Amino acid sequence: MKAVAVFPRTKEVRVIEHEVPHITEQGQVKLRMLDIGLCGTDKEICAFEYGTPPPGSDYLVIGHESLGEVIEVGPAASRVKVGDLVVTTVRRPCPHPECRPCRSGYPDFCTTGDYTERGIKGEHGFMTEYVVDDERYMHVVPPELRDVAVLTEPLTIAEKARDQTRQIMRRLPWLNSEIPEDMRGLSLTTVVLGAGPVGLLGAMALIVGGCDTYVYALAPAPNPSSDIVEAIGGKYLSQGKVSVETQKALFGHIHLVYEATGVSRLAFEVLKLLGPNSMFIVTGVPSLKAPIGVDADLLMRNIVLKNQIVFGTVNASSENFDEAINDIGVFHQRWPQSLRALITSRFSPEEAPGLLLGKIGGIKNVITVDSATSREH
Ligand code: BGC
Repeated sequence: MKAVAVFPRTKEVRVIEHEVPHITEQGQVKLRMLDIGLCGTDKEICAFEYGTPPPGSDYLVIGHESLGEVIEVGPAASRVKVGDLVVTTVRRPCPHPECRPCRSGYPDFCTTGDYTERGIKGEHGFMTEYVVDDERYMHVVPPELRDVAVLTEPLTIAEKARDQTRQIMRRLPWLNSEIPEDMRGLSLTTVVLGAGPVGLLGAMALIVGGCDTYVYALAPAPNPSSDIVEAIGGKYLSQGKVSVETQKALFGHIHLVYEATGVSRLAFEVLKLLGPNSMFIVTGVPSLKAPIGVDADLLMRNIVLKNQIVFGTVNASSENFDEAINDIGVFHQRWPQSLRALITSRFSPEEAPGLLLGKIGGIKNVITVDSATSREH
């Protein structure tokens, strides 16, 4: 079968012939892959700055944002059945007995760093025709979400952030009685940095949660991302074009920032604007460049004197995948067109290397595996 693979040693990215996987354990399930999303991490892997092939392999099959269809189930698999659509999680636990997060089913909080990630670190990914994995890593998607379910994985980042946020907000006792379950109904002013898929999906989650949401990005409006922001009831701000009124409205009044750019300079500039008792959530992973100057005294003063919290978040739990599938359904009901507009293009696996090595435009680009070309399973 074909697969898109990265060869770090020879610095190549190409479509290869890869062995078809077979069910070898009772709880395993075999999938025919349908959609695989491309993201910044894939680009970094293809720039040979990130990513590790499985032990003994000179290449890594990439792809971690996925949607597949179940075509075969092992005798002990009971949660999924043939024909189900599923999204498979990315991270697998490390083997160390002392890693309490991994031993408790939360490899997203692994402390040893010896976790693996499908399509990223030590395990082949999903940009191929067939995949076998344990059913415990698979999450069933309702059939009506077929066209948009590949957006589940990038939304899990916001779901994990929201989980953390809810727990952190318990530190503010006067809010607790008002928000027993989630942030719904609480009028929070939130700023999303970045209008790529992670930022826009995060904005959708915040708006569904009742937050007054601003999305800040480089590109001037109108553009496809700003259209989505306006259509879902957010406010789009572009670089250098933030009106004085908006600046006044935001300065010191931002309750939550959801960073989704990986641009450290921007993150630290906006951190200065954070209000009292507020939170700054960092999700972007910058490539390591020369150190930059930051206003360290001001930032530290603010963090202490305003009881602020800055936290980073990566990957997601199994619960977060279920929450993301549920929220994709909510977004689909509320903004069917805007949700669909996040997927700007679909390409064949053969086009993937060119896209990953060049400059990809659009919001979310998806590789669609054409089953007509699948010969054998
Ligand atoms: C993926 C995560 C992964 C992270 C770090 C992100 O692009 O969505 O699943 O944990 O990269 O490798």
